[in-house]
Amino acid sequence: MAEVLWDWSKSGTRNAVRNRLLRRLPGVSVASAYRFGLVERPHYAYGVRRATELAARLGHRGVTVVEFGVAGGNGLLALAEHAQYYATATGVAVRVVGFDSGVGMPPAGDLRDVPYLYGPGFYTMDHERLRARLGAAELVIGDIAETLPHYLDARSDLLRDHPVGFVCLDLDYYSSTTTALDLFRGPEHEHLLPRVTCYLDDLPGTIEQIGEAAAVTDFNAAHPDRPIGRVLGLRAFTPFDPPWADQIYAHHRLDHPDYARLETGATGDQLPLDD
Ligand SMILES: C[S@@+](CC[C@H](N)C(=O)[O-])C[C@H]1O[C@@H](n2cnc3c(N)ncnc32)[C@H](O)[C@@H]1O
Repeated sequence: MAEVLWDWSKSGTRNAVRNRLLRRLPGVSVASAYRFGLVERPHYAYGVRRATELAARLGHRGVTVVEFGVAGGNGLLALAEHAQYYATATGVAVRVVGFDSGVGMPPAGDLRDVPYLYGPGFYTMDHERLRARLGAAELVIGDIAETLPHYLDARSDLLRDHPVGFVCLDLDYYSSTTTALDLFRGPEHEHLLPRVTCYLDDLPGTIEQIGEAAAVTDFNAAHPDRPIGRVLGLRAFTPFDPPWADQIYAHHRLDHPDYARLETGATGDQLPLDD
């Protein structure tokens, strides 16, 4: 009983347990589970939904979603499942890509890497087990300082047809996150949607000046026309008020040629004075 109470006392675990219970109720369809965020890793589902919606509204037929930091692979498989659902629901093809060293955390390179919590060799991967379940999802193995620039170069055609619309940052370190944000740094735009939803996994329990938060602050200081900011007020319009909403950010690429394009579905609403 004490364990159950412990789980229900914290909003993160309470929400996960409640979601699992609600999902089992008769009449809760797969579509309802997605609509109300009752699926596993609802924050990943949210990111895929936002990416596919924006891609469709801007007339793209495909989009790419990325997990930086894969470890055992549970997140990547969840992302792939959500990608399949939203590809069917929206008609937008969704490519899924995971980046990881494959051998766990590298040595910390900076005191802001939260070295008192994470260390070299944490979170290794069982490649064979994961690859057997990957399906069409792509797994890019190696230090992202090498694999990311190579990937952007080698896959530029695919990325042009499937620009990145959602990124999960789960590399734990300030230095690795800074490297991952190179995705947003170069002069090219075609590999990205003008607004990219980001989920920052490792914010809770840290402070603004270290870890992922510090990497984002530094990025913003260096790129004022490409801010990465927390999506304000998201909890209030997300079903069941989930705590993960506080970890949803968006990369707004103000210098992207499509940034100001009116999205299909923008209705030109009016707000006339009430009688
Ligand atoms: C916390 S784990 C990811 C967990 C995973 N997203 C999940 O939800 O199950 C962090 C991962 O980041 C990877 N990582 C950290 N720095 C890296 C780097 N510079 N290059 C490649 N992988 C890195 C590590 O190998 C580790 O597996």
